[in-house]
Amino acid sequence: MPEVKDLKGKVALVTGAGSGIGRATAIALANAGAAVVIADIDDEGGQKTLRLVEEAGGKAAFVHTDVTNWEDLERMVAFAEETFGRLDVLHNNAGINAGWPPFPQSPRERWIKIIDVNLSAVIGGTQAAIPVMRRNGGGVIINSASLAGLIAYSADPIYAATKHGVVGLTRALVFLKDESNIRVNCICPGFVDTPLPRRRLASMPAEERGRWEKILGQIPMIPPSEVAEAVLELVRDESLAGEVMAIQYGQPCRLVAPPMQAM
Ligand SMILES: NC(=O)c1ccc[n+]([C@@H]2O[C@H](COP(=O)([O-])OP(=O)(O)OC[C@H]3O[C@@H](n4cnc5c(N)ncnc54)[C@H](O)[C@@H]3O)[C@@H](O)[C@H]2O)c1
Repeated sequence: MPEVKDLKGKVALVTGAGSGIGRATAIALANAGAAVVIADIDDEGGQKTLRLVEEAGGKAAFVHTDVTNWEDLERMVAFAEETFGRLDVLHNNAGINAGWPPFPQSPRERWIKIIDVNLSAVIGGTQAAIPVMRRNGGGVIINSASLAGLIAYSADPIYAATKHGVVGLTRALVFLKDESNIRVNCICPGFVDTPLPRRRLASMPAEERGRWEKILGQIPMIPPSEVAEAVLELVRDESLAGEVMAIQYGQPCRLVAPPMQAM
């Protein structure tokens, strides 16, 4: 089936686009006609995504970015505007999980780093992008949260805390739609077939690693391309703002309402 080029003329920026979900989203956005800025701390991974987009006939550029560095966040947004003239879509996607040992044994620096990458950078990327999007008359921001942002994910409590934070931020920014025509939504996937779920295995003692390899081997993983399609749905559907989309293996994506209302 030919790709729908409905995002032609749009400019999208994806953080953590050098691997996994970010790479799949960058490719899907480019296939839909958008010019894509690939931002990642990993130059090799970022360049690989750039090659994949260009080989498929898409338009993209790579910018080295550490999302925990405020100047880098401002620079990546400025780079998008300088390179392609505007910014319509931001996917705050870069993320990490815990190494070993888990919380509460984990050293303080490790859990602070997780908060910096998974939550502070989403806040910072959003803050950097808003003035540029306002100049364009609006835009869409998609945040990568997780199913761990909706459930009691005891395997990695700090990761869960950051993803609950991303869900809360996304819902609370619903006002930006009326105020600035900026729609903020997030995705909450279960386990996705990317390097991330296995990254923490490397730091585990052999016995624990064996246990986790067995667990992960039994979990059906969502293909990253399916997550990318969900991101594009949130980008395209102009009625969606402040929404949280759960993505689970073998099930249709669904919007998750907040557990309660204020009154
Ligand atoms: N894979 C899963 O099972 C899963 C499930 C739910 C949510 N998520 C979330 O989706 C997002 C993407 O995860 P993924 O599975 O594609 O992981 P991944 O490890 O394949 O890719 C993450 C990318 O982020 C980049 N990154 C890490 N720290 C960075 C930093 N400081 N600055 C810039 N880039 C940085 C990495 O270099 C990498 O390219 C994350 O936010 C993750 O929490 C993943």
